[in-house]
Amino acid sequence: MSIEHLKSHWGFSRVPFSKELAPSMFFSSRAHSEAVARISWCIEERALGLVTGEVGSGKSVAARAAVSGLDSSRHTVIYLANPAVGARGMYAQMVQALGGVPRFHKAALIPQAMAALAAEEAEWGRRVVVILDEAQGMEEALEELRLLMATDMDSKAAFSCLVLGQPTLRRRVRLGAYAALNQRIALRYVIEGMSKDETGAYISHHLKLAGRADTIFAEAAVEVVHQVSRGLPRAVNNLATQALVATYAERKSIVDEAAARMAAAEVDAE
Ligand SMILES: Nc1ncnc2c1ncn2[C@@H]1O[C@H](COP(=O)(O)OP(=O)(O)OP(=O)(O)O)[C@@H](O)[C@H]1O
Ligand SMILES: [Mg+2]
Repeated sequence: MSIEHLKSHWGFSRVPFSKELAPSMFFSSRAHSEAVARISWCIEERALGLVTGEVGSGKSVAARAAVSGLDSSRHTVIYLANPAVGARGMYAQMVQALGGVPRFHKAALIPQAMAALAAEEAEWGRRVVVILDEAQGMEEALEELRLLMATDMDSKAAFSCLVLGQPTLRRRVRLGAYAALNQRIALRYVIEGMSKDETGAYISHHLKLAGRADTIFAEAAVEVVHQVSRGLPRAVNNLATQALVATYAERKSIVDEAAARMAAAEVDAE
C-alpha cells in the first residue's frame, strides 16, 4: 500500500493528520484557544509563563499559533528546543539569535546575553520572546532564566518568556529549590486532552483540510479513537491514520468501530 493509493481511495487532496499544518489551519479546541490566549497575554505582559501538558497535547502547536499572531516587525522570537544544551547553551543560543557571537566563558556570556536582550527592545523597538520548548529536565536553566529576567529591580523584564514542558516540569518547579522561580511564574496553564465532541470535530477538521467534508468516521469509531487517545491530538492523528489504512485495506468507505479497534491495537504495538 502506498500513500498515493490511500489518497486516491479516500479522494484526499493531501494527506490528512499531517504535522505540517499552517497556523491558520489549527483546530480551535477549547484547550488550544485558551492556551493561545494566555500565551499571547504572557508575551504582551513580558511575563514568565509555564504551559504544560502530556506528550502530544498541543503545546508546541499552541505556541506556534500565538507567535503567528505577532507583528513580526516588532517581535523577535527565540525558540529554544534543545533541552540538552544546559544553561550555557541557552545563553549562547540567545546571543546567536540576536546576531552576536557568544563569548566562551559563562561569566562573560551572561552579561553579553543581558545586553543583547536589552538592546533589542531599546535600540530596535523589538520585543524579545524566548520560548523554551521541551523544558522538562531543564529546571536549572530555568532558574538562570529567572535571574536574567529579574533585572531593573524587578520592574519590567527585558523579554517575555514562555516555558513549555511535560507535566513533570510543573511538579518539579513547585519543589522548594525553585521557590523563587515558581513565584515569578505569572501564568500557568495545563493543556488537557479534548472532550469527546471535540475529538470528533478535530477528526472532521483534518479530513476537511484533506478535501473530505462529508462523514467518514462512524460515531462508534470516533468513540474508540477518543477513548484510546484520551483526546490528545497527536494520538488522535496516529489512530485516525491507522483506522483509514485499515478501512482502505478492506476496501470499505466508512471507518467503523472494528477499524478503529484494529488501529488501536496497531498503534499500541508500536
Ligand atoms: N490545535 C491543533 N490543530 C491541529 N492539529 C493539532 C492541534 N494541536 C495539536 N495538533 C496536532 O498534534 C500534534 C502534536 O502537537 P504538539 O507537537 O503541539 O504537541 P506537544 O504537546 O508539543 O508534544 P510534545 O510533548 O511531544 O512536544 C501536532 O503535530 C499536530 O499535528
Ligand atoms: Mg512539543
